[in-house]
Amino acid sequence: MTEEGEGRAGECPVRVQELPPGEEARLVTLGFKGYTGLVRTLPGGMLMKARYKEMAHRLYNFDFRPDDIVVMTYPKCGTTWMQEIIWGMTHLDELEEADRLPITYRTFFIDSDALYLLKDQMKDRYLMDRFHTLCPDGRPEQGVIMQSCSAQPPQPTKPRIIKTHFPLSLYRPDLLDKCKVVYVCRNPKDACVSYHHHCRLVNTYKFEGSFEAFAKAFMAGDVFYGKFWDHVAHAWQRRRHPNLRLVFYEDLQLDGLKQLEHLGSFLGLQLSQEQLQRVAEHASFSRMKGRDAQVPITLSSSTNGAVGGFFRKGITGDWRNVASAELDTVMEEWIREHAGSLGISFKYAL
Ligand code: PPS
Repeated sequence: MTEEGEGRAGECPVRVQELPPGEEARLVTLGFKGYTGLVRTLPGGMLMKARYKEMAHRLYNFDFRPDDIVVMTYPKCGTTWMQEIIWGMTHLDELEEADRLPITYRTFFIDSDALYLLKDQMKDRYLMDRFHTLCPDGRPEQGVIMQSCSAQPPQPTKPRIIKTHFPLSLYRPDLLDKCKVVYVCRNPKDACVSYHHHCRLVNTYKFEGSFEAFAKAFMAGDVFYGKFWDHVAHAWQRRRHPNLRLVFYEDLQLDGLKQLEHLGSFLGLQLSQEQLQRVAEHASFSRMKGRDAQVPITLSSSTNGAVGGFFRKGITGDWRNVASAELDTVMEEWIREHAGSLGISFKYAL
């Protein structure tokens, strides 16, 4: 990997390959009962749904606009929280809209097109209706969310908020020269606990193995979006770029208002302390969890409700309650191996 990213503009720098025979079965045996039709990138070895093969080039070349705000994260690191914060900052005049529409519908999760083929018969009517309204001639197989996002008319004070879990390396190297990117990191222990919950909750993964098996798969990068450290490294290496802001989940919890103030300045928004307070409250864990009970982020048909909900605990340090001492030793060694060479340090307790 280079400072400037890989590949020439226009040419997706990775190949996307089916898994070798037996590999998918091995992952299913680990506990990922929902794993089927998977691919990996080469180089990088990032695990993804087969749809990514068709979408990689489109995502790589996605036409970002100068006023877009991209929220980029490794999964379970605070994406939804950051989406809600940024949406709140840019929609102060209509915060109550969040009581009516989940964040999924107020922003664009462009990876969706690489995860599923959204179709007319899907239960998620809203996304299809938005697509048909914005793109009367659009073709679902070319990416419902990406086409909707592209067709969204520019609105002077309401930028498009685009969520992605794909790392910087899977977008054109000039992405950061085009628009602002907020990259949220979270300590890998808690990200792992949260990802474990997510993989038990969502039917695409249907994880039924032990926590230890999951944590080992997480460390090996046998989860969607691949290796945690590769993902973080791509952003960390470009952290001094003026259009990139790195935010730590733990800092948002420790010092929310100050973080929001920095974020507002980074985004070029002139927000008063009172407005920042309103945004912090709007995006608090309890408010977001409360709204999720009314207008859920996840579709009940795609999740296992018995496992719980999307908003689990929203705390730092839950790893201690879940991992054995032996597993902690393994994770510590893995962290030492990677974090040290990167020069990044995370907070594991507040
Ligand atoms: S996803 O599915 O990858 O987009 O998930 P993501 O939003 O990145 O991460 C979900 C975790 O973030 C927690 N969360 C919050 N924590 C604190 N405050 C707020 N407002 C908030 N909103 C979401 C959510 O509960 C998940 O963490 P865990 O540890 O599982 O509770």
